[in-house]
Amino acid sequence: MKTIIEPFRIKSVEPIRMTNRAERLAFLENAHYNLFALDSENVIIDLLTDSGTSSMSANQWAAMMRGDESYAGSPSYDRFHKAVHELMPFTNIIPTHQGRAAEKILFSIIGGKGKYILNNTHFDTTRANIEYTGAEAIDLVIAEGKIPSSEHPFKGNMDIEKLEAFIKEKGAENIPLVMLTITNNSGGGQPVSMENIKQTKYICMKYDIPLFMDACRFAENAWFIKMREPGYENVPVKTIVQEIFSYADGCTMSAKKDALVNMGGWLAMNNPVWAEAARNLLILTEGFPTYGGLAGRDLEAIATGLTEVIDEDYLHYRISSTQYLASHLTAAGIPIVKPAGGHAVYIDARNMLPHITPLQYPGQALAVEMYLHAGIRACEIGTVMFGMQANGQEQAAPMDLVRLAIPRRVYTQSHIDYVIEALTEINQNKQDLSGLKIIWQPKQLRHFSARFLPLDAQEKQKENFVKAFAVSQ
Ligand code: F0G
Repeated sequence: MKTIIEPFRIKSVEPIRMTNRAERLAFLENAHYNLFALDSENVIIDLLTDSGTSSMSANQWAAMMRGDESYAGSPSYDRFHKAVHELMPFTNIIPTHQGRAAEKILFSIIGGKGKYILNNTHFDTTRANIEYTGAEAIDLVIAEGKIPSSEHPFKGNMDIEKLEAFIKEKGAENIPLVMLTITNNSGGGQPVSMENIKQTKYICMKYDIPLFMDACRFAENAWFIKMREPGYENVPVKTIVQEIFSYADGCTMSAKKDALVNMGGWLAMNNPVWAEAARNLLILTEGFPTYGGLAGRDLEAIATGLTEVIDEDYLHYRISSTQYLASHLTAAGIPIVKPAGGHAVYIDARNMLPHITPLQYPGQALAVEMYLHAGIRACEIGTVMFGMQANGQEQAAPMDLVRLAIPRRVYTQSHIDYVIEALTEINQNKQDLSGLKIIWQPKQLRHFSARFLPLDAQEKQKENFVKAFAVSQ
């Protein structure tokens, strides 16, 4: 059979409230054209993130009922520990409430002024937690990883030459850690090959620097290795996952992605000195080491989720559904970052809307139109998110993208067909879209709360003002 179906039946449903264009225009105006300010009840298809938005299985819900909520020594922790250890055999596994809590603890211990943390591409929270300690976060992804049209199969790979050159230049003693983000979210959800993981490990060993994984989407990365890397076609995903982590000395994890739960994470490592310091900090900020920031039932849901996420029928469906969206958008003439990532498709809005300059935010213009046209919520990753410089000047980001992140096990193919139809229609009338202007913004992380006004609305306001002024004369 050629048709790939969702490998699950739906037992419990959540209604979607349908809205019309006039209602959506009012919601948008109320939200100052910032999609983070919308009520999610007024969104038809929510592609803002794949993080914490997964559907849990009947088995996960059942496992939650046996969650043991003891303060210390809970059997739920043992089940969590066993499930994580099976895939990522680190000697210390420390639960946290989400990925950034693991990052905060790790970098509080090893960061600081004069230190450098190297990565293929740091995710925003990783970078922010590193910089908060005074250390510098350095991105060393291969050149192809920054070219949207490049079809390289492993665009998340570390540039090994640059990695070694950087270590030689700054001195291994100033580099407490090298990281690999699998898959590389900020670079388009692109995977890292096993070959590249091994080469990175080799360089790390040569200079005696530990290698940590940012493991959020480890199962999706393992599936890409199975599909694209010669020699792995017949290796079970579980074995590939175990091989990946055999080259690592630790990891940070957001369970909100590839542990198929709505909240959770962990920090894992072999270094006993760092682990002791991490547990001490954990007690201060998250909780006792056998629950971290989580309830016993959350630990149970993670333990079960970890067995489901490496199921090959699940991964086949998961990656195929992202590729389905990508190939239909390409067929409709919509430029996307190629090849499709694991958890998301990224539209190249700057290329799609050349009449909107980067400082008029083509990504935001497209995201706003997707909501107005069809109630679809997506996320701008471009000049709104990255354009404000530390000196207060604005500058175009390297790319203006819109990320369509696909929640796990949530939407069916007809939902995705709806998204394809909406974007095809928008693309046909794309010359009608106009840019936006920011009318208010906070000092940091402006994309979450900035207020916008469409430029055409601003033109109208100006016209009205001129007319009113003329009448008053
Ligand atoms: N690392 C990566 C690669 C991520 O994608 C995320 C979160 C984190 C770390 C932080 O994990 O949210 O549990 O604290 N990414 C989400 C996203 C927010 O939408 O891509 P967290």
